[in-house]
Parts: sequence; C-alpha cells; structure tokens
Amino acid sequence: MKEILIIDYGSQYTQLLARRVRELGVYSKVEGPNYEKFTGEEYGIILSGGPESVYDKMYDLPMKLIGKIPVLGICYGMHLLAQKFGGKVVKGPQGEYGLTKVKLFESPLFEGIPSETVTWMSHGDVVESIPDGFSKTAVSQSNVIAAFESSTMKIYAIQFHPEVIHTTQGKEIIKHFVFNICKAQKEWTMDNFVESEIEQIKSITNGKNVIGAISGGVDSTVAAILTSKAIGKDLTSIFVDHGFLRKMDMDVPKNLKTLGIDVKYVDASDLFFENLKGISDPEEKRRIIGKTFIEIFEKEARKVNAEFLLQGTIYPDVIESAASSQRSAKIKSHHNVGGLPERMNLKLLEPLRNLFKDEVREVGSLLGLPQEFISRHPFPGPGLAVRILGEITREKVRILREADGIFTEVLLKTGEYFKIWQAFPVLLPVRSVGVKGDARSYGYVLALRGVDSVDGMTASWHEIPYDILRMASSEITSKVPEIGRVVYDITDKPPSTIEWE
Ligand code: XMP
Repeated sequence: MKEILIIDYGSQYTQLLARRVRELGVYSKVEGPNYEKFTGEEYGIILSGGPESVYDKMYDLPMKLIGKIPVLGICYGMHLLAQKFGGKVVKGPQGEYGLTKVKLFESPLFEGIPSETVTWMSHGDVVESIPDGFSKTAVSQSNVIAAFESSTMKIYAIQFHPEVIHTTQGKEIIKHFVFNICKAQKEWTMDNFVESEIEQIKSITNGKNVIGAISGGVDSTVAAILTSKAIGKDLTSIFVDHGFLRKMDMDVPKNLKTLGIDVKYVDASDLFFENLKGISDPEEKRRIIGKTFIEIFEKEARKVNAEFLLQGTIYPDVIESAASSQRSAKIKSHHNVGGLPERMNLKLLEPLRNLFKDEVREVGSLLGLPQEFISRHPFPGPGLAVRILGEITREKVRILREADGIFTEVLLKTGEYFKIWQAFPVLLPVRSVGVKGDARSYGYVLALRGVDSVDGMTASWHEIPYDILRMASSEITSKVPEIGRVVYDITDKPPSTIEWE
C-alpha cells in the first residue's frame, strides 16, 4: 500500500502525526532517522520534530527521495532542511512555547486558511535565514520565520506543530500536504485492512498450527478473531486464569464462543497462588507471574504442535520497542508471553502490528465485537496481582475484585468510564480505624486511580467529579465491609507509574 513516510527525530508528537495522516484514509508509518529501505511506494515524507539542535546534531536526510517526492519538515525537521540547503539556524533570544499567533502567506499548505491563525510552538532554536531559492511562507507574532518552502524542490517546512489540536488549522494543513501536494489516494480503511490481512495470515501460516493466549484485553481478542477468520481450526486459543482476573474477564471465553471461536479455559490459579506465597517484592511478583504463565502456556502449546505464536502486538509497541534500546532504566518488567518464541522455536504472528489502538477497536467492531467490550480500559497481564500491594492472598483478591466491580459499575452508569483512559482500585497493605454503626472498625485502605493518557507512557490523573467519587466510596465501603477507607490517587506519570506495582 502507498504511504506517507514519517521520519522520527524524537518528538513526543511523532505517533500523533502518523495517526493524523491515517485519519485522512492514507497509510502512514514511522521510521528512525537512518531509515533507507525505501519501497517506491512513498507518496511523500514528513520529518518530525525532535529535542536536538541542528548545530549540535545533524542527521542525514533521506536525500534519495528529496527533490523527487514532497517533504514536509516540522520544527527540528524544518531546521534540518534549513541547515542542509544553506540557511542558518541559531538559538533564539527566548524561544516560543505554547499558543502562538502566526501570519501566513501564499502556500499550497495554507490554501483557504485565514492569514492570521493560532498554532502550537515548542522551540528554542529559530531559522535565522532561509536557503537561497526558497520563500518565506509564514512568520510568528514575534517575527520569527514560521514556514518556508520551494515548490520546485517539493520542500515545505513549518516551525509549529500541525498534529496537535491546539494548532487550530493543523488538520487542514496536514490534509493539504497529503492530498494537494503529495496527491495521495484514500486507500487506508479498516474494511480493506481486514480483507487483506486475512489473506496475509493465510499465506504466512500456510496450513501450519497457530497458538494464541487470550488475555481478555481488546488486542489479543481482536487478533484471535481475525486469525480465526483466516485459518479457522488451525488456531488454538488459550485463556489462562491466573486467579487475578476481574469479574468482567471471566466472560471472555463465553463472549468469544458467541463469535464462533473456541477458547480453551485453563484454571491455573492454584499454581500461581502457591508460587507467590510469601512474596511481596513487586519485581519478584512480576517475575514469578511471567515465569509461571510461560510454563503453563508451554505445556498447553506442546499439545497442539504449533509453529506460530499469535500475539496482539500493536503499532505503538513496535515503535516503542524500536525506541526502547535508547531508554536506560528498567522501570518495571511487563508481563506478556515474551521469551516463549525462542524457547519453543515458535515464529511470531502479529496481525495487528501496523495498527493504532483506535484502529484495532474499529477492526474489532467490524468483526462483531460488542461496543462495551471494545471500549474497555487497558488491563495489565498480571491482573489484580499488581494492584494488591504486598503479599497476595485469595482473600485479598476477592476483596479487590468486589471493589473493582463496584467502581467500574459506578463509572459505567455515570458515563465517566468512557471519558477516562484507565481507572481501577488498588488494595493497600495498611488498615485504618473507622466507625461503623456505633462500633470501632479497622479496615483496609483502598486507593482509586483514574488517568488520562495516549499510550500509557505518560499520564495525568483524571478529574473524576466529586459526586462520582462520593458514590464510588460510599458503595464500596457499604458493600465490601473489609474496606474501611477510600482515597483517590492524584499523581501524574511521571513521577509515578500508572499501576502501583
Ligand atoms: P505503568 O504502570 O508502567 O503502566 O505506568 C503503563 C500501562 O501498561 C499497563 N501495564 C501492563 N500491561 N502487562 C501488560 O500487558 C504488564 O505487565 C503491565 N504492567 C503495566 C498498565 O495497566 C498501563 O496501562
């Protein structure tokens, strides 16, 4: 499929750029600065922003394509183009951050857009002079060059970020680049994706057996349905109950059955509780859960002689793991079935690896998954185990499961659930004094958490209205007598993480 290629120089908005292009119905992918595997299928290239200064760090530009197909440089991408073609980039006197008024001149990028518009800027360096043969196409309120271009070179450069919603005409500017300048066609639809991916899965697996673990999350479920459509009984889906599931997760095998997919339910909770006995260190808990999961899965997989392992990897994970080599500190070990493919000599089947989360949801909807399921919040592989601080016991899981069911129900019935990226309760290993009836009580402290995020990498705590918090607190403490106090977590990520362990 033809695409808009995005070269990522480290901007926090790069994924957003790819999403904006895809929202227009054009496929777009993100590659690193040294990417060279051009396919000839590129409609055009976008050079992202980035934290560096071109006078400290100059990356090679994709010169094989520049001049032949249109290029749009944004922020650092603009500076690269300026510097490369003979302009000058210097440190600005004070930089421009946040909402900034800009005056636009004539350009195919700005067609039909009012000549004074509001944009989102985030830069300390400025283009002091543009390269010869280029024309200045916008200036900011503080008279900084905000855009330049050369239509003969097919090069366009802007200082502001059109991908963020604060740039009022941002979507329009991207649309002009994609359709008017790159002449892209609208070919990226989820219907097309489902059709071509089913063919792709058939040809990759070619009659061999595939095994997949269903976690109850949207990604693994959609991956299983798509694969089942392609290869039917050659797919074996397994649902491992580690004992740390929420109430709603128990329905997963039954839901899938109604879509014609048989899922093997494996109750392994005894083994998980046994292995976790006496363990309270968070990393140790995660390690044991991951290891136990792999053991069980391996045992099941041997029975079906699988050659492929199905995984619900999605595009942000792919971009993330490409970038993760640069990230130094390990914050926490995420549990998935990583490690299995090499150990069992399995090949990976990842039918969703090119999709963003919202696209996965759209595919799920096309494949018949109910809306309530599709709009579920993310849920970690180790389940409630990372939401019970300290040692895990069946009794604590029962208490947290009850509280989780009530909190979710309150959020659903008030509609707040759909405004939050992820929300859940956490059971703390502390008790606190209270009064119930006329008697003293001494119950667990439960922390509620609600966050807004795009990809889970950063998050800000969600402002759940007080009346909803009040309802949740009073229903939880009256229906779960072991809980004596409810608090709300008001910490962003960073400095905290989303989960408490
Ligand atoms: P943290 O706690 O790292 O969480 O800020 C970021 C996002 O990842 C989810 N999470 C996990 N997901 N396996 C998963 O599949 C895990 O081990 C895991 N740990 C955290 C978390 O719920 C949040 O959405």
